[in-house]
Amino acid sequence: MSAAPTPTVLVTGALGQIGTELVSALRELYGSDSVIASDIREIEGHPVINNGPFLTADVLDKNSLKVIIEDNNVNIIYHLAAILSATGEKNPVLCERVNVGGLANVLELAREYELRVFSPSSIAVFGPDCPNHAPQITPLNPTTTYGKTKVTGEIMAKYYWEVHGVDVRGIRYPGLISWKAPAGGGTTDYAVDIFHHAIMSGKYSCFVGPDTRLPMMYMDDAIRATLEMMDTPVESISDSRGGYNISGCSFTVTELVAEISKVIDPFECTYSPDIRQEYADSWPDSVDDTEASNDWGWKAEFGLEQLVNEMLTNLTRTREVEE
Ligand code: NAD
Ligand code: SER
Repeated sequence: MSAAPTPTVLVTGALGQIGTELVSALRELYGSDSVIASDIREIEGHPVINNGPFLTADVLDKNSLKVIIEDNNVNIIYHLAAILSATGEKNPVLCERVNVGGLANVLELAREYELRVFSPSSIAVFGPDCPNHAPQITPLNPTTTYGKTKVTGEIMAKYYWEVHGVDVRGIRYPGLISWKAPAGGGTTDYAVDIFHHAIMSGKYSCFVGPDTRLPMMYMDDAIRATLEMMDTPVESISDSRGGYNISGCSFTVTELVAEISKVIDPFECTYSPDIRQEYADSWPDSVDDTEASNDWGWKAEFGLEQLVNEMLTNLTRTREVEE
């Protein structure tokens, strides 16, 4: 039996927090030349640009995506280009245009060229009426424009599968915590920024209060979840294909500070909540990922203690190398 041919992959929004790590995981899997990274911006010296093909492309420019797909015989798109919650609530028109309009372009091209698509959703699809431990199936009434665009994205994914047979899949990522790239303008950014400040100055002023609890996940788990779900046979993917709940860990800022303080002592966190507190309060504390576990065997590996140790070790090492 001959092995399946290596697919050609296009990643949009590839220079962001997730793209920085997903592109490198995909290049390891398929080979560097088979993974074309793209973004609306360029960052000099960025590993995604240095380590394989990179093209600038605005996802709102459907024709430029079409040219990339045709020129390179693309088979799969990992569509990461988006405007996140905090930036999105400052500019809701742009958020809607990029998150819904960009996805519409990608899905239409996927229909035309018979591509598979990964399109992330978010815990931001949930609203204040959702139980604290968010079920997979529950009314989705987000208060943020960003959350509304993610609900629309899930509906579009289901529609393109049911009506056009386009295999689109998504995950409702929790707040993602990583050290290789900065967080990209979301509400959960405090859980990344806190590590940088702890190491630099032993102090952090947090923009949400101490009791704020949200679903979070270490990036290694998120990348593994993405690859595992995309590798699952289509028969096992259920109606939740537009946005599977996946759980990593769930903690308050106080619990995070206590864990960081075990390594960085003294570490002082003060609180100055802003509008992002409202967005955080509208989201659940944790999510039920039974369906992801049943359909494609999802299980997180990183708990709070392990995540904190990984973040502090890697950021300290990176700082030492830079100095
Ligand atoms: P990010 O903000 O770090 O990266 C997004 C990238 O998209 C940026 O590099 C940006 O330059 C690019 N971009 C913006 N507008 C564009 C356009 N018009 N055309 C092309 N590129 C454009 O975001 P991320 O954290 O990497 O998130 C990727 C996806 O995952 C998004 O859909 C986001 O909603 C989702 N998500 C992320 C998190 C998280 O905690 N990081 C959680 C839930 C869901
Ligand atoms: N981490 C993201 C944000 O805060 C959730 O989608 O916007």
